[in-house]
Amino acid sequence: MLDVAVVISGRGSNMEAIARAAQRPDSGYRVVRVIADRPEAGGLGRAAALGVPTSVVPVKKFSDRAAFEAALGAEIEASGARLVALAGFMRILSPQFVQRFEGRLLNIHPSLLPLYKGLDTHARVLAAREKHHGASVHYVTAELDGGPVLMRGQLLVRPNDTVESISARVHALEHIIYPHVCSLIATGRIEWRDGTVLIDGSPLIQPFLEENDADA
Ligand code: GRF
Repeated sequence: MLDVAVVISGRGSNMEAIARAAQRPDSGYRVVRVIADRPEAGGLGRAAALGVPTSVVPVKKFSDRAAFEAALGAEIEASGARLVALAGFMRILSPQFVQRFEGRLLNIHPSLLPLYKGLDTHARVLAAREKHHGASVHYVTAELDGGPVLMRGQLLVRPNDTVESISARVHALEHIIYPHVCSLIATGRIEWRDGTVLIDGSPLIQPFLEENDADA
């Protein structure tokens, strides 16, 4: 059983999807702690309702990023988690922190990485009249939104899509792909070995793809 910590800043719908999927007998993992960087994070209540222990490392109480990250790292280690899933965590982590947890740190980003790194992805995708959009689960490296992509969820952009409508569909895909990746790691199918991602023992060439074009 792989112990997972989920780190959030906001409403925590991905955290909830990860925690709910963990309850399936074949998931291979369990969520041992949800950690938020702000006490107002809506996901804390959702986690508590699911019976998952929560803690807050309040970023505002620390004088600098190094002190905050030291406390966050200590909280993760104390939880015993072997895998850390950032899920709507709105801070950029230092290369030192990333290195400390290298190969154990995942993130989900609302675009088909390597396209549309950074913020406001839905608006930028719509403005560019892209045909496809989606979300990606990747290992975190020192390069922002730049670590190896493990799985993408892809959908077709509709002509009348708005930021609200497309973000709702992207979220629904996120809730499928993030727990799926956690299970692939928990069951040993995906491995990080010295900076290389392996799938069933061989280097991962092409990320997994979950398509949802049916309703387009
Ligand atoms: C998701 O869209 C994720 O891709 C991005 O932040 C959002 C988090 O949503 N990193 P939630 O807090 O999981 O509902």
